[in-house]
Amino acid sequence: MTSSEIRKAFLNYFAQRDHRIVSSSSLVPKDDPTLLFTNAGMVQFKRVFLGEETREYRRATTSQKCVRAGGKHNDLEIVGKTARHHTFFEMLGNFSFGDYFKEGAIEMAWDLLIHEWGLPAEKMWITIYLDDDEAFTLWRKIGVPSERIVRMGEKDNFWAMGDTGPCGPCSEIVIDQGEGMGCGRPDCSVGCDCDRFLELWNLVFMQFNRTQEGKLIPLAKPSIDTGMGLERISAILQGVKSNFETDLFRPIIQEVESICRHSYGEDPKTDISIRVIADHSRAATFLISDGVLPSNEGRGYVLRRIMRRAMRHGRMLGIDRPFLFQTSSRVVGLMKEAFPELRESEEFISKVIRNEEERFSETLDTGLKILKEELERLKRGGEKILPGEVAFRLYDTFGFPLDLTTEILQEEGIAFDEVGFRAQMEEQRQKSKLAWQGIGEGRTKEVYRRVLREGVRSSFVGYEELQCDSKIIRIIKGDEWVSEAKEGEEIEIVSERTPFYGESGGQVGDRGVIFHEDFSIEVEDTLKPFEELIIHHGRVKRGRVREGVEATFRVDADRRRDITLNHTGTHLLQAVLREILGNHVHQAGSLVSPERLRFDFTHFAPISPKDLDRIEEMVNQKIRENLRVETKIMTIEDALQTGAMALFGEKYGEKVRVVMVSDFSIELCGGTHASRTGDIGLFKIVAESGVAAGVRRIEALTGKGAYRWLKELERELREMAYLLKSTPEELSERLERLLERQKSLEREIESLRAKSFHQEVLQLLSQTREVKGVKVLSTKVDGKDLRTLREFIDQLKVKLGSGIILLGSMAEEKVTLLMGVTPDLTHRFKANELIRKIALYVGGTGGGRADFAQAGGTKSERLEEALQAIDHLIE
Ligand code: ALA
Repeated sequence: MTSSEIRKAFLNYFAQRDHRIVSSSSLVPKDDPTLLFTNAGMVQFKRVFLGEETREYRRATTSQKCVRAGGKHNDLEIVGKTARHHTFFEMLGNFSFGDYFKEGAIEMAWDLLIHEWGLPAEKMWITIYLDDDEAFTLWRKIGVPSERIVRMGEKDNFWAMGDTGPCGPCSEIVIDQGEGMGCGRPDCSVGCDCDRFLELWNLVFMQFNRTQEGKLIPLAKPSIDTGMGLERISAILQGVKSNFETDLFRPIIQEVESICRHSYGEDPKTDISIRVIADHSRAATFLISDGVLPSNEGRGYVLRRIMRRAMRHGRMLGIDRPFLFQTSSRVVGLMKEAFPELRESEEFISKVIRNEEERFSETLDTGLKILKEELERLKRGGEKILPGEVAFRLYDTFGFPLDLTTEILQEEGIAFDEVGFRAQMEEQRQKSKLAWQGIGEGRTKEVYRRVLREGVRSSFVGYEELQCDSKIIRIIKGDEWVSEAKEGEEIEIVSERTPFYGESGGQVGDRGVIFHEDFSIEVEDTLKPFEELIIHHGRVKRGRVREGVEATFRVDADRRRDITLNHTGTHLLQAVLREILGNHVHQAGSLVSPERLRFDFTHFAPISPKDLDRIEEMVNQKIRENLRVETKIMTIEDALQTGAMALFGEKYGEKVRVVMVSDFSIELCGGTHASRTGDIGLFKIVAESGVAAGVRRIEALTGKGAYRWLKELERELREMAYLLKSTPEELSERLERLLERQKSLEREIESLRAKSFHQEVLQLLSQTREVKGVKVLSTKVDGKDLRTLREFIDQLKVKLGSGIILLGSMAEEKVTLLMGVTPDLTHRFKANELIRKIALYVGGTGGGRADFAQAGGTKSERLEEALQAIDHLIE
């Protein structure tokens, strides 16, 4: 079977047993800041397991894109060294949400492997959690002999998605691939790290939710979550020894071979590099297609680490040009049937990868050279530890992720001083005052989840109304739910209905008031931590608020209107950018506030002032056309049919809201909008900049804000005109004339200066005397800068023809001495030697050439003495 047949067979097997086939979710988990990447099939069902969400099905099956790099399940550094680890892989899984439990899961898994696919029952081993006697009995019942059922501890047989969230004991099906695949150690058995006992399929008996405090809370309905790596099962069914020999990898490996002229299988060392590149090409391709871009933090940094590791292994194979974009395009060719999203972003992925490769290429070489020299130095000295400072410099200056450096060191049997590294890192962090913006900083509080689990929901009526009456159903104070709050207290309110827009999709939350005869609350911000939950954050201004009371909710209408205009402006901007710059433009982030809008998008070069003008002009033209803005709710399929712009890598529900500006801009969006573009009035770009590799940012103003900005500019212009005694219209002409005049004044000054310089040189020259037949000019010159003093020396040399010149000057208690010796005398008198001796008088040092030297000192009271000392020295 080909891997794609295996994928289909798996999904069909479960579909025939009442499972809904659900498509893979994005690698970027939606609304889940606790998780770096989707790392298992159950991630998209997390809230279903927790009982926070219900679906119309109770059984599901998927083939899920997963990445295990960074975060809890991290395989990055081991990939390439084994036959079976990956950063990116596909997980086949079947799920029961409170439907069948252990027995069903065990029976179906066994039936599929043994009866459908014909794997040898006698080679199968089972692991179970320590005290899970129920699982033991079930496996026995199916015919697995007890000596092949192994009990293991928490580390192996208790599965958790992350530090918090659903978890439970698990049972794994392991296949014995025979001694030939093993490490040969006498104690090699199930659980050994080698390739012999291959963990094939993990059946998790979901029973708990682990809270932030580490408590295990039983789930209302025990559930099933299973996972089997497509790459592993393909290797088994295709009868090959490693995942890299399956049809999922062979074509990519061939591509690598053709680029580097090494053959896979020729040398264990180059094989590692080939596997790393093949694996990492898949991860990079899929991550970028799901909207991750290489950057210096969070998800983007993990992607960067993956790509840089691959590039370095490319160097080890002798490839010294960008190549990953090529292997990645092979990945797209291979996988686009199963993952159609790759097709739309093919060109984009290739550009992002190439861009990153080109940027890193040179620093990689320099960094590798430095590291090599450093390693040689260590070896010569018989040392075994690389100083932390070197690792830090590689990281900071040459962009070497720490795991890249450690991997190279490991290959050489050298450790590095991690404490030293951390100290440098900390120091730098302090310096730049830039705290690490880690993942997990979401604005979701545990108490919101609790509220949600209690079945509380709020509905948003703010598309149509800005005021409504509704019952207050929860009052939250800090992390607690309270029944009332009094004047001055900071609280959060949940209501059944609300016109307040909760921050989402880049649009900031609404402000306004919630009031009643007995109280009023000023709402300072509104959040939407979950799709169906809106949180009003504010302060009690008057009276006492009680849960259950019916109050009036009123949004600050002016502010909302400004936000709305900026949001519609953002849509126009995106459509215009695609029109003018091209279809590679995708939204990478946005902020829509009352004051301004900010739009981040993918594009590879700064935008020229001319293009910026065209962009701004076209947006304004669309405003003047006064196009109608309409919203519709439709299925995601229909929306994509109409050509709607979906957010890159975003996962949408079944029904989506589509915002259409005539047929010029169609976007999936939950935000609030103007009803006609004319309402925007005016659109003004105020800044364009780069925010990350391949991402540009435009900041702009609309409506009132744009008008005010222009008004301010006009005021400044008038002010300037006033100062220059002109009018705004004639200002530039006036300024030109002034600049002309300034230039001619400067010329005049220059010629006067030259004249007086000449006078001064003559005056100095008159002080020349003779010592032992040598012409000597040694004197004090005040109020001249260093440049002028040098010019004096040069001029005096010419005028004297032969002689020694020593000029001393004093400024702010500091003494400067300059000495010139004409060329005919330098064999007898060297300026640099003489000045060093003279400098001693003024308590300083000096140096220079034989014909010109300079010194400085602090004892200004001895300057005269120093100037006279020249005579003795000549004598
Ligand atoms: N979620 C389980 C795993 O990843 C099936 O192993």
